[in-house]
Amino acid sequence: MNTYLSDYQLSIEKPTVFWEKQARNIDWFTFPKNILSPDHKGYPAWFEGGSLNMAYLCLDYHIENGRGNQPALIYDSPVTNTTLTYTYAELQDKVARFAGAMQKNGVQKGDRIVIYMPMIPEAVIAMLASARIGAIHSVVFGGFAPHELAIRIDDARPKLIISASCGIEFDRIIPYKPLLDQALEESAWKPQNVIFFQREIFRAEAGGELEIDFMDFMNQAEAVAPVPVEAWDPLYILYTSGTTGKPKGIVRDTGGYAVALKYSMDKVYNTKAGEVYWAASDIGWVVGHSYIVYGPLIQGCTTILFEGKPIRTPDAGTFWRVVSEHKVANLFTAPTAIRAIRKEDPDGEFIRKYNLSCLRNLFLAGERCDPPTLEWAQEQLNIPVLDHWWQTETGWAMVANMTGYELFPVKPGSASLPVCGYNIKILSEEGKELIPNQEGYITVKLPLPPGCLPTLWNEDRRFYESYLNQYPGYYLTGDGGYKDEEGYIFIMGRIDDVINVSGHRLSTGEMEEIVGGHDAVAECAVIGIEEKIKGQVPLGLVVLKSNVSVTEELLEKEIVALIRNKIGALASFRQVVVVKRLPKTRSGKILRKTMQKIADGVHYAIPSTIDDPVILTEIHDRLKERKIGNAFEY
Ligand code: COA
Ligand code: AMP
Repeated sequence: MNTYLSDYQLSIEKPTVFWEKQARNIDWFTFPKNILSPDHKGYPAWFEGGSLNMAYLCLDYHIENGRGNQPALIYDSPVTNTTLTYTYAELQDKVARFAGAMQKNGVQKGDRIVIYMPMIPEAVIAMLASARIGAIHSVVFGGFAPHELAIRIDDARPKLIISASCGIEFDRIIPYKPLLDQALEESAWKPQNVIFFQREIFRAEAGGELEIDFMDFMNQAEAVAPVPVEAWDPLYILYTSGTTGKPKGIVRDTGGYAVALKYSMDKVYNTKAGEVYWAASDIGWVVGHSYIVYGPLIQGCTTILFEGKPIRTPDAGTFWRVVSEHKVANLFTAPTAIRAIRKEDPDGEFIRKYNLSCLRNLFLAGERCDPPTLEWAQEQLNIPVLDHWWQTETGWAMVANMTGYELFPVKPGSASLPVCGYNIKILSEEGKELIPNQEGYITVKLPLPPGCLPTLWNEDRRFYESYLNQYPGYYLTGDGGYKDEEGYIFIMGRIDDVINVSGHRLSTGEMEEIVGGHDAVAECAVIGIEEKIKGQVPLGLVVLKSNVSVTEELLEKEIVALIRNKIGALASFRQVVVVKRLPKTRSGKILRKTMQKIADGVHYAIPSTIDDPVILTEIHDRLKERKIGNAFEY
């Protein structure tokens, strides 16, 4: 068997040889003409001329190979007390009929479909049906406010929007219709139709001239066969936070993604066909796309769609109940979930209530994993707990302990070693490669492996500006960190205006645009500060206009409401502090990182470029007065 090192070397030195071999592991309609070749903008792209269909690979292929009666998807919903199992044959039937309905409704290859749905099987059916006919889906996380949905509708210009009557947060029903209606009022683009799924737990008032009932839509159509698409054709657009109010539409091409996911199921997650794989995330995030839907199904696994939270649905044992009941072999979640469980069940009493002998590994990603959380999970579960690092842009892991090869020792605080295909370099500001243990910009030398973004939706230029122009020949990840002498990579956090709240990626730049829009605010900064469970939460620092008089309490209330209404509750934006001035460099750049360090109680050097160092003391004193951050003993 190949070792990690031999495969890694081959993947970097002879990427086309390595990836041609991996490409042969999926069932193409036509095998690619070129393994790696320049696309229309001269950017290296994978598998030109290959033709395939993602839904075929995820469903029909397995049915043709004897897995028709195997469970493909288990929907486990503690919030509705429901467990439903769909075999590959059952899922294919629904997907093929929903695809037929879309086609009958005029949806063609390349048309966009926005999916704004909770964690229910119909959302997965809609995604796979879109893939089946070569349409491009764009799933919008259910926790986003109407404004965010409207931005995505205007950018993607969908022919159909698929939605449902409600989501459920713990025991709270979140009606979706008012949110969707508000988004459609705000968006300039109007879809041809809205396909609306009525959930039994809460039915919305039917109506609206564009609306068609989901079940009527599906039941009146004939099943259709998968439509062959080109490897370079987009499978989906997934919007993620950039540094401004306009999210980045990450484009995922079909061929490279299929090959990368198949390889990752084998080598990153070591999960075989027939086994149960569970990514406890949401279909609105990239983890949900890659490892609730496409990855496990390409591999012929059973995937779990879990509609619940790690705690209080009904308790901190819910993850372990799901693992033991459905015989989960590998579990993937965010460190936040483990922190939340640990807080409620510090001694692991719930863990011991269940037979978890089926569980081989716990994979963590989505945010920095603090060593105490990793060590606690390791101790309690007594299996490898493996941090790994990736982002929406890449679609799959860049750094991981690849369990499909030999396992390397775990170093808490590190996501381990570069995944095959990723030539990771730590660069200085000037673009010089740094020596071990020196912290710098984490980059990937081009070409990126298959699966990673080929561009941003309708924004080739922004793609270059965001990721490629700073260091020609390298992809800029947006994270900072270092490599140690053994090549282990330590991710230390974002170097831009992006933060991670409960593993959800959010833009502080966007929040600043909203806070700055408040009438009383002259100037503001939003920074991410440490929080015990969520990892980070945003904090607003504002300077008032000279002519306004408003209490800090009232201002905070109003700004918190603004962020909730514009971005959504998921931003967890709860605190605003009024300050006299913001610290800046002499050229006027706000020193956000320095303020973040003050709040987190981390040592900081006073920047030599600072305009007036006294401002830092003022910030420190205000945070202390408000008892905000980790810097002080309260
Ligand atoms: N629809 C509507 N609202 C949502 C939502 C959704 N899909 N997701 C989150 N929200 C709301 C919450 O209800 C909450 O609202 P509130 O301020 O009115 O209470 C707010 O957004 C913040 O939510 P969250 O960050 O989830 O905090 P929480 O206190 O409700 O739950 C945890 C805490 C730790 C249980 C939860 O954050 C969690 O499960 N984290 C794991 C996240 C994860 O798996 N991420 C994977 C990404 S790979
Ligand atoms: P997203 O695109 O939402 O998946 O968020 C990607 C970002 O989350 C990365 O750029 C990192 O900042 C952060 N992230 C993801 N996984 C890890 C990890 N294992 N360790 C540290 N940060 C991580």
